[in-house]
Amino acid sequence: MMTTVLVTGGAGYIGSHTCVELALAGYDLVVVDNLSNSWPETLDRVGELVGRPIQFHRLDLREHHDLLNLFASRRIDAVVHFAGFKAVGDSVRDPLSYYDNNVAGTVSLLKAMLRNDVARLIFSSSCTVHGLPRSVPVTEGEPRNPVNPYGCTKAMIERIIEDQVAATSGWRALLLRYFNPVGAHPSARIGEDPIGIPTNLMPYVMKVASGKYPYVHVFGDDYRTRDGTGVRDYIHVVDLAKGHVAALHALERVDGCQAINLGTGRGCSVLEVISEASKAVGFPIPYRIEGRRPGDIAEIYADASLAADVLGWQAEHDLTAMCRDHWNWQRKNPDGYRSSIST
Ligand code: NAD
Ligand code: WQD
Repeated sequence: MMTTVLVTGGAGYIGSHTCVELALAGYDLVVVDNLSNSWPETLDRVGELVGRPIQFHRLDLREHHDLLNLFASRRIDAVVHFAGFKAVGDSVRDPLSYYDNNVAGTVSLLKAMLRNDVARLIFSSSCTVHGLPRSVPVTEGEPRNPVNPYGCTKAMIERIIEDQVAATSGWRALLLRYFNPVGAHPSARIGEDPIGIPTNLMPYVMKVASGKYPYVHVFGDDYRTRDGTGVRDYIHVVDLAKGHVAALHALERVDGCQAINLGTGRGCSVLEVISEASKAVGFPIPYRIEGRRPGDIAEIYADASLAADVLGWQAEHDLTAMCRDHWNWQRKNPDGYRSSIST
């Protein structure tokens, strides 16, 4: 019998790419998403890519009775939990909505799992749980020390899941700490579609390349890094998605609850991203050096060795592939999913 996986937030950026890899790996999928930051069109395209429709329920995780009805209506073997808000700046402006959606949404999900004896969970965490790391590369043993409400929700959820796993025999969970996901599916059918002006580097760079904005604002060139600009561990979203397939397999071997970094183990600077993106688009992408962005850190990248040991997984795509695929998606879908909805 096929293993059935409930994917929360499966219509979103990382969730949709993960649905593709899970379906291709032979999992039966049930997606729940309230479409607060995504489009139903995405799952139609996922269905096209994998050759079968994806079962979808438009549902908010905090609507606990609806969630219970869904669990009661079908067998679920494991949950991959992406659903939540993710914008650091918004979380500072409106912390309550972040604690409510991310933390209360997860508690509602865990209660439904407990009630229905579903004891396998993969959670989307973030390197942001560390705040300012003491050293790089960052290992999983680095203390949780988040510095903004979004990061606090991720650290709290990690702790809640650890407590729940410790309290209930048979539960297993992996807390996957993503670094900086970028890129898109090589088909260019699914990708990141940020609402409003992008705050992350790669989507902004690609919007500049497409002519939507005049230049990239480079936030500081006076960090103690190799060229003075911020260094991050960018990871291709398809590699990240495959990490979830590896994690589901590993859940059969791993006891209890474990945090695992999903990164490449390599840091790239802002100027290196702009340079590689320029090669991908075929012309120099304009930029201007500006002041530091408040709250930014100089450098963070993963120690990716635990993922290799425990999951047997490592990232395969380099920055060239990340820029190529992100650009392809941007070029073919200039207004994201909206462009195809209106045509
Ligand atoms: P996304 O916004 O594209 O996807 C999240 C999805 O969850 C959206 O489709 C949204 O509609 C849905 N959702 C939100 N709240 C919900 C709720 N209460 N009930 C049901 N659905 C809900 O974001 P993403 O980039 O795909 O991120 C997925 C997860 O990975 C998030 O938990 C995010 O915090 C985490 N993460 C993302 C990054 C990143 O840079 N993208 C980095 C580290 C961790
Ligand atoms: C990368 C680098 C900027 C935009 C965020 C979240 C974090 C996690 C990953 C979810 C930095 C510089 C950026 C721009 C720039 N997400 N930059 N001009 O800050 O590492 O992390 O995504 O969990 O929680 O905070 O990613 O893409 O915003 O920035 O110069 O227009 O690019 O200063 O050095 P960040 P980012």
